[in-house]
Amino acid sequence: MKDLWQVLPMYTLFCAVFFIFLYSQPCASSSKNLSCNSDDLRALEAFSNGLDSRIDGGKFHDAPAANCCSWPGVRCALFSVFSSPSSINSTNQSLRVVGLDLASMALKGLLSNSLSGLDQLSFLNLSHNSLRGTVPPELFHLRRLEVLDLNSNGFTGDLGQGISNLTSLSYLDVSFNQFTGFIPDSFHGLQRLESFSAESNSFEGRLPNSLSSCSMLRLLNPSNNSLDGNIDLNFTSLVHLVVLNLGSNHFSGHIPKSLSSCRALQVLNLASNNLHGKFPKVLGTFTLSPICQCQKNSLSNVSVALQTLQECQNLTVLILTMNFYGEELPNNGIQGFHSLQALVVAVCALTGFDSLVVSKYQRVEFPRFVLESLDWRHSIVYWEPGFSVLPGPVK
Ligand SMILES: *[C@@H]1O[C@H](CO)[C@@H](O)[C@H](O)[C@H]1NC(C)=O
Ligand SMILES: *[C@@H]1O[C@H](CO)[C@@H](O)[C@H](O)[C@H]1NC(C)=O
Ligand SMILES: *[C@@H]1O[C@H](CO)[C@@H](O)[C@H](O)[C@H]1NC(C)=O
Ligand SMILES: *[C@@H]1O[C@H](CO)[C@@H](O)[C@H](O)[C@H]1NC(C)=O
Ligand SMILES: *[C@@H]1O[C@H](CO)[C@@H](O)[C@H](O)[C@H]1NC(C)=O
Ligand SMILES: *[C@@H]1O[C@H](CO)[C@@H](O)[C@H](O)[C@H]1NC(C)=O
Ligand SMILES: *[C@@H]1O[C@H](CO)[C@@H](O)[C@H](O)[C@H]1NC(C)=O
Ligand SMILES: *[C@@H]1O[C@H](CO)[C@@H](O)[C@H](O)[C@H]1NC(C)=O
Ligand SMILES: *[C@@H]1O[C@H](CO)[C@@H](O)[C@H](O)[C@H]1NC(C)=O
Repeated sequence: MKDLWQVLPMYTLFCAVFFIFLYSQPCASSSKNLSCNSDDLRALEAFSNGLDSRIDGGKFHDAPAANCCSWPGVRCALFSVFSSPSSINSTNQSLRVVGLDLASMALKGLLSNSLSGLDQLSFLNLSHNSLRGTVPPELFHLRRLEVLDLNSNGFTGDLGQGISNLTSLSYLDVSFNQFTGFIPDSFHGLQRLESFSAESNSFEGRLPNSLSSCSMLRLLNPSNNSLDGNIDLNFTSLVHLVVLNLGSNHFSGHIPKSLSSCRALQVLNLASNNLHGKFPKVLGTFTLSPICQCQKNSLSNVSVALQTLQECQNLTVLILTMNFYGEELPNNGIQGFHSLQALVVAVCALTGFDSLVVSKYQRVEFPRFVLESLDWRHSIVYWEPGFSVLPGPVK
């Protein structure tokens, strides 16, 4: 996949804003002797007390101090409260906790609902810890949250409807946990959401239709769950989508036609589902170096698929393995595919290859590799941004 910075430019901006906060803090506190807000302190202490001890024995603040703004991972910002609009002299200033970055801190235990006391919190990164149990619904009362990263913990239970409250959210990652139940259909108000990842949980049911209204979405990745039914998102307004990964679920039905609206799409992964029907005449709009993985479905009509995809001028990797079973390749060959470097059609039992390419493998002109008779079970196909294909044994 492409560099995430490119996928999420807003996030860079967000970090820059934090820097300004951090540098403004020492100046302010030297004159006014500010320390963190007492409600924030209480909330963080309760959160810390709710954890099991850290693997190295301490709590996440090893040096308890009244000024929670100096605790590791805690970021504060100076808030000014003007007592009257005309008088700038009589202001009340206070330091509030706006960010909590406790990723990879070996935190263990339950997530205390006291975190909801941090009512100015906009950034929460608890990823790569060993937190467990359910996510307390109170967490979703933090209306200022812009970034919520719970990736790679042991959270269980369902996500709950509360996400609908988080109208400032731009980044939501709950991947690699043990969440179950439905992904809540509560995304209507999340107009700023740019990235939603729920990879490798045990979510079931439909992909929530309300995601269609997140018009800023750039990355959508609920792959490797047990989602089913049709992919009935309306992609018409998702014009900024760059990465769509719906692979390894139980989706059925057709590939939605409205995908044609996603003109910025670079990575499309629909692999390992139960999709069937023809490739819609829509995907001719891919832009920069896109990768299309549609293997292990039950798609039919390889002629239509190739005719459609040959118009994707910058398509570099196309994997159609385990589809179109026993069909015949178009006898007028393949045109287009100006950037294609690998076409993988293993285990399709296609016929008509001789009319398609002069040499079956490693044809140096495009496509550079046509891998049609790999034994999928004994072969590995790799690709990376720099691109390479390492075929296994070719019969
Ligand atoms: C700053 O705060 C600390 C504790 O909160 C206090 O002990 C100290 O006297 C204060 N200093 C000034 C200059 O107000
Ligand atoms: C604010 O304070 C400055 C000096 O610190 C003073 O000159 C100014 O008149 C004050 N303004 C008000 C509205 O009190
Ligand atoms: C500052 O806030 C405190 C408590 O919230 C209040 O009692 C005090 O009057 C405020 N001072 C000003 C100058 O606004
Ligand atoms: C959270 O922290 C992890 C580990 O440092 C990092 O890889 C990830 O990008 C962070 N998430 C966000 C949204 O900043
Ligand atoms: C949204 O947040 C409010 C408190 O800010 C809470 O009372 C309400 O229950 C929340 N809604 C959901 C659906 O959780
Ligand atoms: C898919 O998710 C399961 C847990 O639900 C996990 O054990 C497995 O490693 C994941 N597979 C990949 C390829 O990430
Ligand atoms: C999809 O959304 C567009 C506008 O965003 C709307 O015009 C269209 O009717 C919708 N299609 C369906 C099938 O709901
Ligand atoms: C293919 O990529 C080039 C840049 O490498 C870009 O200028 C061009 O618009 C792309 N073509 C299409 C059809 O998107
Ligand atoms: C594929 O679709 C085309 C156009 O709809 C049709 O003419 C052709 O017969 C189909 N081929 C197969 C094998 O179904």
